[in-house]
Amino acid sequence: MTLVLATVTLAAVSCGPRQDVSKEEAQKEETPKMLVVFYSQTSNTKQVADVMATQLGADLAEIVPVETYDGDFYATIERGKKELDEKAYPEIQTLAFDVANYDVIFLGYPIWFGTYAPPVFTFLNQVDLGGKKVVPFCTFGSGGLESSLKDLAAAEPEAEILPGYGVRAARLEAMPKEVDRFLKAGGFIEGEYTKLEAFPEQHPVTEEEAAIFDAAVGDYPMMHAQAKSVASRVIPEGTEYLFTAVDLPREDGPDMPPAGEMQVYVSVIGEEAPVFTKVIR
Ligand SMILES: Cc1cc2nc3c(=O)[nH]c(=O)nc-3n(C[C@H](O)[C@H](O)[C@H](O)COP(=O)(O)O)c2cc1C
Repeated sequence: MTLVLATVTLAAVSCGPRQDVSKEEAQKEETPKMLVVFYSQTSNTKQVADVMATQLGADLAEIVPVETYDGDFYATIERGKKELDEKAYPEIQTLAFDVANYDVIFLGYPIWFGTYAPPVFTFLNQVDLGGKKVVPFCTFGSGGLESSLKDLAAAEPEAEILPGYGVRAARLEAMPKEVDRFLKAGGFIEGEYTKLEAFPEQHPVTEEEAAIFDAAVGDYPMMHAQAKSVASRVIPEGTEYLFTAVDLPREDGPDMPPAGEMQVYVSVIGEEAPVFTKVIR
């Protein structure tokens, strides 16, 4: 009897702490390790990466080309185009953190020629993100994240590529709030957020809606388009429109055929002028 009691007491004593340790371990296993990796030439993407890493409490690593782009826009265009066309991607410095040690990689980049900038090709050629979750994010002039996703999926076929976040360089002031909502919606951080309803079906644009479209894209030199149809939805700050538009032939340029149909997202916040948030061709 004494022996049985002693055994039970011993078991109870030794079980207590062991249970705590395994609980801790289980919790550790449940909390995925997150790394924010980014390339940024003119610091727009860096701003997004900084906000993400701070919000997530994640490690942050910058992709730095050995030979940096010199900052002159046209020289960068020329060099970047050549590197992409020839698949001659630039050498990059060793990253501050080893991606192998992380479960979720937030990968940030500027959109160059409809895809991620060449240093990100180099990075993806050097690492294996197979089995990891990858959350892409980007900044762009007009284009959006979508055009880069095909290259990303091809570069990392064994990775699970999750929905990403993109923001126009001209709208960076709206980014911290959007990132907060994006991270909450993805379940990466806790907190309340407003779920966005889906867009209803499109209808032909009214005069008023056509005026909203024109006001949003009017002074953007790369866009010369006419809205055909639209759908709108309520967003926390105002109204978001999804226009289907077509390129108009350019009056001032060479006789280029219209590039076809595009989807243009436009936000109207309070009394502010309409702004387009991305264009998907
Ligand atoms: C070489 C080059 C090519 C670019 N190509 C595109 C493009 O195809 N589509 C687009 O929307 N923006 C394009 N941009 C604009 C950049 O994506 C935008 O300025 C971005 O915010 C820059 O980010 P960063 O400051 O992190 O370098 C291009 C910029 C450069 C320098």
